[in-house]
Amino acid sequence: MKIPLFHCLMKIDGKAWRTIWLESDGASVGVIDQTLLPHRFGSLRLATLEDAAHAIRSMQVRGAPLIGATAAYGLWLALRTDASDENLERAYAVLLDTRPTAINLKWALDEMLAAVRNRPRTERAAVALQRATDICDEDVAINQAIGRHGLALIEEIAARKKGGRVNVLTHCNAGWLATVDWGTATAPIYMAHDKGIAVHVFADETRPRNQGAALTAWELGRHGVPHTVIPDNTGGHLMQHGMVDLVIVGTDRVTAQGDVCNKIGTYLKALAARDNGVPFYVALPSPTIDFTVSDGVAEIPIEQRSGDEVATISGKTADGRIETVQVIPDGSAVANYGFDVTPARLVTGLITERGVIAASRPALAQAFPERAEVSPESAAKVRA
Ligand code: MRU
Repeated sequence: MKIPLFHCLMKIDGKAWRTIWLESDGASVGVIDQTLLPHRFGSLRLATLEDAAHAIRSMQVRGAPLIGATAAYGLWLALRTDASDENLERAYAVLLDTRPTAINLKWALDEMLAAVRNRPRTERAAVALQRATDICDEDVAINQAIGRHGLALIEEIAARKKGGRVNVLTHCNAGWLATVDWGTATAPIYMAHDKGIAVHVFADETRPRNQGAALTAWELGRHGVPHTVIPDNTGGHLMQHGMVDLVIVGTDRVTAQGDVCNKIGTYLKALAARDNGVPFYVALPSPTIDFTVSDGVAEIPIEQRSGDEVATISGKTADGRIETVQVIPDGSAVANYGFDVTPARLVTGLITERGVIAASRPALAQAFPERAEVSPESAAKVRA
């Protein structure tokens, strides 16, 4: 499905942007450098496989769907210079190794592999470029559909509150920046806002990398959506006082039984939501479902990142410089688990491109039968 650029939701200074695009030279890919945000806005040109792998690893691009899209273009960049089987295998392995948790990475690489594997070498680069472009367009279309289904949930609450402000709590950044456009968790919010519904977002700051404070707050602000950044531990208090109508988060991997892996801290929000009767929704595109795993806690690999991310914090000084400072005593140990798993029983519903469904094996298999048919061999290969 082709989505023309003018359908882009996000505008920066009046110009429509996707988070990733083919550069006009036809030989490289542009991305927004997310490590600069929120204080600077800039883009990067990825011209090689190594550029793409570095962008994912260093989190210049991040968010499960955008990681997948970048990997897809990375494979194309590799095939541009050498379309041999050996280079295809090498590029696949290099890109797969960049980040372990978001399954969209492997999904996109498998899509690329399936598209090019049986093609003559002379055609591989062109075919790869086409599939990478389609993956991006499909992501936009999927997120629009997620938005429409999630919008109905927000509309229902707005009607119940007789037009009173609908308060959504979200964690990390599952927004425009984490996808090609729209976002997953934010698509229903943008649609509600654009429709004139009074919607307000509590954005968890999301230590240690502060994707909520730096990225979600930035993109909501750009679009004019009222929002409040809160320290990560605030959500439970707000829920106890009736200040959150619903939680919508994104996800990096949903298992066959509906367990949800997302940015560290999501599980605690789900527990608080359950204790306070607040609906807890997870927005996801179907490439985020991993039908080869069931028990998310036991089976999903959790990324552990550098302790520096916990030990330090970066920000803008009063005179406009970006500085990084240490926030822990010299010598203290740190732990930096990137993700956690929320068991399916704590999830009110999954907002997918095919509707809002239960977080359960039968509901997932019924909604995505073509994905649910995983052979035992391929499941074993994935686990190996
Ligand atoms: O480590 P990150 O910033 O890549 O983690 C991102 C998240 O956890 C998002 O919530 C998830 O990828 C869903 S993005 C639509």
